[in-house]
Amino acid sequence: MQTPSRQPAAAMQPHAPIPELYVSWESAQKLKAEAGDLPSWDLGPRQVCDLELLMNGGFFPLTGFLGKTDYDSVVENMRLADGTLWPMPITLDVSEKFAETVEPGQDIALRDAEGVILATLSVTDKWSPDKSREAEKVYGADDRAHPSVRYLHDVAGPVYLGGTITGIQPPVHYDFRARRDTPNELRARFRKLGWRRVVAFQTRNPLHRAHQELTFRAAREAEANLLIHPVVGMTKPGDIDHFTRVRCYEAVLDQYPQATTTLSLLNLAMRMGGPREAVWHGIIRRNHGCTHMIVGRDHAGPGKNSQGVDFYGPYDAQELFRQNEEEIGVKMVDFKQMVYVQERAQYEPADEVEDGATVLSISGTELRRRLSEGLEIPEWFSFPAVVNELRRTKPARSKQGFTVFFTGFSGSGKSTIANALMVKLMEMGGRPVTLLDGDVVRKHLSSELGFSKEHRDINIRRIGYVASEITKNGGIALCAPIAPYASTRQTVREMIEAYGAFIEVHVSTPIETCEARDRKGLYKLAREGKIKEFTGISDPYDVPENPELRLETDGVDVDHCAHQVLLKLEQLGLVAA
Ligand code: PPS
Repeated sequence: MQTPSRQPAAAMQPHAPIPELYVSWESAQKLKAEAGDLPSWDLGPRQVCDLELLMNGGFFPLTGFLGKTDYDSVVENMRLADGTLWPMPITLDVSEKFAETVEPGQDIALRDAEGVILATLSVTDKWSPDKSREAEKVYGADDRAHPSVRYLHDVAGPVYLGGTITGIQPPVHYDFRARRDTPNELRARFRKLGWRRVVAFQTRNPLHRAHQELTFRAAREAEANLLIHPVVGMTKPGDIDHFTRVRCYEAVLDQYPQATTTLSLLNLAMRMGGPREAVWHGIIRRNHGCTHMIVGRDHAGPGKNSQGVDFYGPYDAQELFRQNEEEIGVKMVDFKQMVYVQERAQYEPADEVEDGATVLSISGTELRRRLSEGLEIPEWFSFPAVVNELRRTKPARSKQGFTVFFTGFSGSGKSTIANALMVKLMEMGGRPVTLLDGDVVRKHLSSELGFSKEHRDINIRRIGYVASEITKNGGIALCAPIAPYASTRQTVREMIEAYGAFIEVHVSTPIETCEARDRKGLYKLAREGKIKEFTGISDPYDVPENPELRLETDGVDVDHCAHQVLLKLEQLGLVAA
């Protein structure tokens, strides 16, 4: 027996207004003043995205963060407790400490990162979820290779609060304001334009020619107008940032017929949940007044699991969508992967290509390689305007910022080699170079710190932060601290690799040589016990296991050492050969 549609009637009428959770302006002012005295929770970036879509009707029929009964039912059956189709648990996770201050029956204020009160939550439920079960049921596996499972275990707090939301004001966006629309704004626009059929294209990537062909075909097939509806909230870690993507979308908008296509940005925090996510995206598009949605190959796929196998089959999302189409309330326009057929000079669905035809394609990895090495990206693949935008954000490696991180004992020669390298890089020109030497950092950034593990870690993380900012802004950071702990070096690596290359150089001068040199006379004092916790004498040093470069300095002059680093940088494409 087919499940009857339980979606509320308002949502099923694309032109009728959808209920929002905001109170009137006057009530909001009053509420805001009162909410100042409530216990308040500072929302994380993902929670702000969720709250915005709860308040503006994007997540209709939800009226708040899920309570325990609805949560259990959504996790188990993809349905709210009353049977309404809803595939994604929208929960408010908080810390143990905050949870202790709140009881069901109480109201709390929800604030953004600047402390602005956006809403109040009337708490009905408080519980500690079984996160492994949530991962298994919602994402198909309790495997941290899935970005949302990692988030669930490592970022989300241990306690969930459920309850109804009273909306005070939407989160403020300073970017692309004219391109952001609430569900009701989009519904009104479609009404005004007389668009009765609208097919939505969900995307987290720049639009290349294959996407254009796919969207054209979908609009033709559905006899509908086209809404390009990219996600600008949170997407898969490592994706191209939304600023660049929106500039790319704007650059290709004139390739589309203006009378039948529109662009709007969706501040959704994706979960990369494949099939369940596709159903969720469908409901969200229905709430935004669309009648159709494109579901392609591997919709919202998270990639491979820790065994190297894809989490979901390439067409699982289409399958689940099809089964639930009626209740979702939008029709699916399904597509196989589009490929370029050389003989016919056009894109075609992979399953329709004639035998023997020459099929060309460039994978995402290959595109990233070509961008990072400054290689050609053919016109059959993308639009020059899009490629220009991408090159502006991701210049060739030889123009990107990077960090060289020297590590080794005191007196190993780190500073001297780093100084020589700095001069060589300055001679070459092109990018600003900053040297963050151990002694200098301790004087200017860390003068209050000592040499306990805790203080050394703070010191190294400060260096990492400054180096990551330099790297982000296209400069070269040379760091030369002792940095004795492997885990802290790994943290710094991750901070920097978000923006550019990190080259760890182990200056492997043995402790005996450093002590024999004793240029600052510190080893003598350490042996006499006059300096405590001295690295290599009375404090540990984790030898780097896989540095990008290990320098043996015994019997080798400084110039040669610096040159070896330069050769490494050249080999990695970071300085032009
Ligand atoms: S750390 O562990 O990375 O924070 O150390 P770092 O900031 O690089 O150390 C800078 C210089 O401090 C001198 N110094 C000591 N080193 C190690 N252990 C102890 N207890 C200590 N006390 C002072 C040492 O000369 C370091 O200089 P470099 O530049 O490494 O020779």
